[in-house]
Amino acid sequence: MKIIETSEGAYQHALGRRARSVLVPTMGALHRGHQELIRVAREQARIGGEVAVSIFVNPLQFEPGSDFQKYPRPEREDEKVCREAGVDLLFRPRAEEMYFRDRSVYVEETSLSMGLCGASRPGHFRGVCTVVTKLFNLLMPKVAVFGEKDYQQLAIIRRMVRDLNFPVAIVGVPTVRDADGLALSSRNRYLSAEERAQATVLRHAALAAERLAQGGEISASKLIDMAKDVITSAGSARVDYVSLIDAETLEPLQTLRPKAVLALAVFIGGTRLIDNLRIA
Ligand code: PAJ
Repeated sequence: MKIIETSEGAYQHALGRRARSVLVPTMGALHRGHQELIRVAREQARIGGEVAVSIFVNPLQFEPGSDFQKYPRPEREDEKVCREAGVDLLFRPRAEEMYFRDRSVYVEETSLSMGLCGASRPGHFRGVCTVVTKLFNLLMPKVAVFGEKDYQQLAIIRRMVRDLNFPVAIVGVPTVRDADGLALSSRNRYLSAEERAQATVLRHAALAAERLAQGGEISASKLIDMAKDVITSAGSARVDYVSLIDAETLEPLQTLRPKAVLALAVFIGGTRLIDNLRIA
């Protein structure tokens, strides 16, 4: 496995390999969800293609006062995960390597980013789009792999690629969960044992709404209220949002219809977790 820590090195490396490269962008603290993305990337790269993983805790996507400083950075473990997963290139730049101090150009999606996590985290998706653009330009992948766990992020990246004609195919991967249903996330590391037990409430809430829908309920507000009731029953859980949205436009729905997604963000103690479930 080759490790590159400079932008110039990444660019030079990519120049000769563009036709066969598949990228998995991450912020590290790699878990089985990331590993599944790498497995799919390997499949996409087929024989002879190269799988690149980037690990960069992107300061631009952390809003002021959030967890940028304490975000886990287990470099050696991450390196081992990549090596064992057969990753060909690990791109692991420092922040100074990625951003000029006088930078003045950003990439901003202006519609899908407005609601949900975009409303709770101003500037977040601008940071995501900007860094993903930079990673695409530096590493020149043919394919890039993202998780459905970050549903809004995936929709925004697809829109960005469509609207700006990026020559990159986007592949989405279903959410990987622990046995009790909790979606894997680097931020699960922040949870105490008690909070970890309560965190299953996101999945329980989504499944309760789904059951109600399967019983014939089509009112979005009833489905949402059901999910909220389940969440507030957990001691230290606090709803950030629960929303029923169209799978593609992310528009809030009043009534259930095909291609509806229940998206939720919940604080468990001080940790904000997200999840989603396609319920029709
Ligand atoms: P990060 O949170 O590290 O996630 C990297 C990729 O892994 C994302 O595409 C995310 O959706 C996917 N992922 C995370 N948990 C998952 C799970 N349980 N199952 C399946 N996929 C999962 O998302 C980011 O980093 C950043 O915003 C990034 C795109 C790298 C830009 O900085």
